Amino acid sequence: MPNVTHLECSLCAQRFEPNRVYNLCSCGGTLYVRYSLSAIKSTWPRESLRSGRTDLWRYLPILPPQRAESIVSLGEGMTPLIRTERLGAAIGSRDLWVKDEGLNPTASFKARGMTTAITIAKELGIRKIAIPSAGNAASAAAAYSAAAGIEAHIFMPKDVPQSNYVECKTLGAAVTLVDGLISDCARIVSERKDQEGWFDMSTLKEPYRVEGKKTMGYEVAEQFDWELPDAIFYPTGGGVGMIGMWKAFDEMEQLGWISAKRPKMIAVQAAGCQPIVRAFDQRASRSEFWQNASTVAAGLRVPKPLGDVLILSILRESAGTAVAVSDEEIIDSGRELAALEGIFAAPEGAACVTAARKLIANGFLKPDDRMVLYNTGSGLKYLDAYSA
Ligand SMILES: Cc1ncc(COP(=O)(O)O)c(C=O)c1O
Ligand SMILES: [Zn+2]
Repeated sequence: MPNVTHLECSLCAQRFEPNRVYNLCSCGGTLYVRYSLSAIKSTWPRESLRSGRTDLWRYLPILPPQRAESIVSLGEGMTPLIRTERLGAAIGSRDLWVKDEGLNPTASFKARGMTTAITIAKELGIRKIAIPSAGNAASAAAAYSAAAGIEAHIFMPKDVPQSNYVECKTLGAAVTLVDGLISDCARIVSERKDQEGWFDMSTLKEPYRVEGKKTMGYEVAEQFDWELPDAIFYPTGGGVGMIGMWKAFDEMEQLGWISAKRPKMIAVQAAGCQPIVRAFDQRASRSEFWQNASTVAAGLRVPKPLGDVLILSILRESAGTAVAVSDEEIIDSGRELAALEGIFAAPEGAACVTAARKLIANGFLKPDDRMVLYNTGSGLKYLDAYSA
């Protein structure tokens, strides 16, 4: 923590003292953790990573805990970045890679956000957390809460994948299935949290999940020897991973680790819930609630992301775009990725394959562009979707 200087609102830039319990800024903005990057730069050369931990805590100097002993870890991060030549040939790319986040604890990238958020919750003495979730964030919250001895209260749509429900119950969380969407779950948490004494761990409503997710950006840079790819495909629900990676790129540039080059950031959504695609196409600065959201990619069923303003500005600043993919295309792509490469992806990750194929076919990306698809979870958590 000597490295954390303050927290800062991502919208109005108001500053906050570190080491306190926060949710949103009064303007509604998410708070970002800020570090003394110039001091870190002089003491932490990127070469020192060679002897670092083999999980995401290898980046501890730019992560938020005050003390290394606080870390609640299950071995998350440093996931493989796999070159996919056979899939590349099938979709017209000569430089295609998959970052396989399905290998994380609880089989999704949500572990990254929860290792940091639960670590800080524990450090700040929080005893009970509550979270609305499309499924995988709940599993990760339940696992890290169990490891930290924190009580987890989970609210998920009643048609969440069965694996997430069983996983959360087994991990000892208090689970409530809600007849509605993640937005309804979020409302219940915010109505009950004060009376119940819960800390609200909703996506982007606390500052520390972004910090864990940003390590996806540090890792891709390190794994490509400090040159970022030309395009990143990211399955966007709440958009935390994209927001986190973008923050990581800025930090790494200030640390002198990478150049000013940025990938085109591509938000991939499901046809049945595409608020970001619609807002991007309409050149709007924020999204509108997507009515009757429905898709097999449960993590993409977020009808109105809280971070929409941030996501849309990243897409524009990076000269990226937003693409919607139908459920049929998602499952077909998942089968293709599995059969050609041996990677059994979550539907959210599979959606990126279709999106890449479309953007190569329409000339937005070139066959020699280096592209990374984020497979955010394991297909094993979605046996219902694949068997149907
Ligand atoms: C497998 C998977 N991919 C992607 C997402 C979307 O994540 P984000 O909130 O970072 O956009 C989720 C969220 O639940 C998910 O579970
Ligand atoms: Zn603010």
